[in-house]
Amino acid sequence: MEAQGKVKIKLIENGPAKIEGPVTVIHPDGMEEDKSMCYICRCTRSQNKPWCDGSHAK
Ligand code: FES
Repeated sequence: MEAQGKVKIKLIENGPAKIEGPVTVIHPDGMEEDKSMCYICRCTRSQNKPWCDGSHAK
């Protein structure tokens, strides 16, 4: 049986972490964003951190 509200984190090979929520992302300045799904950069090349912008593929 799957738990209600379970968060899934899928690590994409040579790419981002896909987060399936719901989750709240809290930025360093305290701003909060509620997301049902997002892609977090793991390669550090994104120009739009913490989000993946596809730069990992270059
Ligand atoms: S993982 Fe996609 S830009 Fe870093």
